[in-house]
Formats: sequence, C-alpha cells, structure tokens
Amino acid sequence: MYHLIDGKKTAAEIKSEITATVSSMKAKGIRVPHLAAVLVGNDGGSETYVSHKVKDCAEVGFVSTLVRFDASVSETELLAKVRDLNDNPEIDGLIVQLPLPEHISENKIIESISPLKDVDGFHPVNVGRMVAGLPSLVSATPAGIMELLKRYNIPLKGAECVVVGRSNIVGRPISILLSQKGVDATVTVVHSRTRDIAGILRRADIIIAAIGIPGFIKADMVKEGAVIIDVGTTRVDAPGTKAGWRLIGDVDFDNVAPKCSLITPVPGGVGPMTRVSLLLNTLKACRR
Ligand code: GUN
Repeated sequence: MYHLIDGKKTAAEIKSEITATVSSMKAKGIRVPHLAAVLVGNDGGSETYVSHKVKDCAEVGFVSTLVRFDASVSETELLAKVRDLNDNPEIDGLIVQLPLPEHISENKIIESISPLKDVDGFHPVNVGRMVAGLPSLVSATPAGIMELLKRYNIPLKGAECVVVGRSNIVGRPISILLSQKGVDATVTVVHSRTRDIAGILRRADIIIAAIGIPGFIKADMVKEGAVIIDVGTTRVDAPGTKAGWRLIGDVDFDNVAPKCSLITPVPGGVGPMTRVSLLLNTLKACRR
C-alpha cells in the first residue's frame, strides 16, 4: 500500500518554523523579512499566484509590498522600478511575476534584478552558482522538492532518479540538484525527444514528473515501490466546483499510486512546498 507525501502538512510545519524565527527576530529588534512582488497586467493565474505570495508573507510575519503596473507599462519604466527596489535597503526579496506582456523582454527584466534579492532564483548568476555548487538562491519548486525528499528521508545516494521534463524552472534545476556531490543520485533527464521514456522510467527508484501533460505517467511505466513527485499542475474545467476548474498532475494517480511506495498528490504535494520555498528564500536573503 502506498503512502502519500503530504506537501501541505510539511509546508505548514516549515511555515511555523519560519513564524518562530520571525518572532525571535522581532524580539531582538531585528528588521523582519520584506518581499516585494511586481505584477504587470491582470492575468488570472498571475493574480492568484501573487495574492498567495502576499498572504503567505502575512501568515509568517513578513512584510510584503505589491507593486502593480498596467499591461501597457514600458520596459524602461519596469526596469526603473526594479532598480528602485534593488536599491531599497528595506527590501530583501524581489520578484517580478511572469509571464510579462510581449513587448517586455522577460530575460532583460530577470537580469536586472539584484542576484542577492532574486528570491525566484531565476537570475543567471543564481543559476550559475547553483550549477557550480556555490551558495545561491535556488528557484522555489526545485528547492521545495529537495526539502520534501529530505523531510521524508527518501534515500538519494546512488538512487536512480528520472526527471521527466527539462524546463528552466523545474526539470533542469532539479536534475542538477539531485546529481550534486553530497546528494549523489544518478539522474536521467527524459523529454519530448527521448526515444524510450517508458523503458527508462521503469528503472527509476524516484520519478520527478514535470512535463505538464496531465496523466502522462501510466502504471506500466512505473517500477513497483517507486517514489513519485508529481510537479504537474494543469487546470482542467470542472463544472460544479466553486472555482470551475481543478488541477491535474502529470501522473495517472489512481492507477499509478498502488504501485508506489510514496507519491505526492495534486493538489497538496509540490504546490504548497513551492509557496513555502519562496518564504525560505526571502528569509535567507534577509539574513545574508
Ligand atoms: N510565473 C509562474 N511561476 C512563477 C514564479 O515562480 N515566479 C515568477 N516570478 N513568475 C512565475
């Protein structure tokens, strides 16, 4: 019988640890962490994500500032605001919610953020430092997955890990973190051009599914006793629910879970860990 990896519960535990840290900072008269989030336009998904970030900050006692721009804001104006926030000594962490409107270069904006305040871990300096095994701000989803694996005592040394997907924000960084010296997993990255995904997956002790195709991983692709981390969050219509949609992971959960030793649910697995990792990064940026 499989067990669930409860990301919601683990994230709640980490949040209370952060809350305790913030309380002791306050008691010592130390300035508490401050996150600034920049939101351009009113994309529905982005609105939701940013409101979660602001709410999460309040819950643990961080200060947050939300800076809003109309979708018509110029790149120059946005760059000037980032510079302003970079230079503000009261602000520890700075994120610009993506995607941005077409007329603004996301790369240019990301590169304008001070690497010391880049709590998304998207700046090439942080990516490079992470790859080199140097202290860095690691992006929230891969950092959250590593924390989940650690807190569930999942053995990684020599483990066969297969990462499905090679995105800049999940697949690529998690493959690097898992193969780092001291973590020592054996990592294979499979993607849309891989010849025999099923055959490779069947060898895996641990599968990290981050391909963004709902239900992609089927029972016959999974070894008995495998550990699965499902990063997929595809919204599908769900008439009759309050939101009108629900989230579906990359794993065909009902059929795959019985073969696993441990598996993350969607929702309630990786998602809450991503949210809490942004808080951990902001705390780290503040304490530097
Ligand atoms: N858009 C979707 N995910 C993210 C994220 O983690 N950070 C930012 N800045 N934008 C996003």
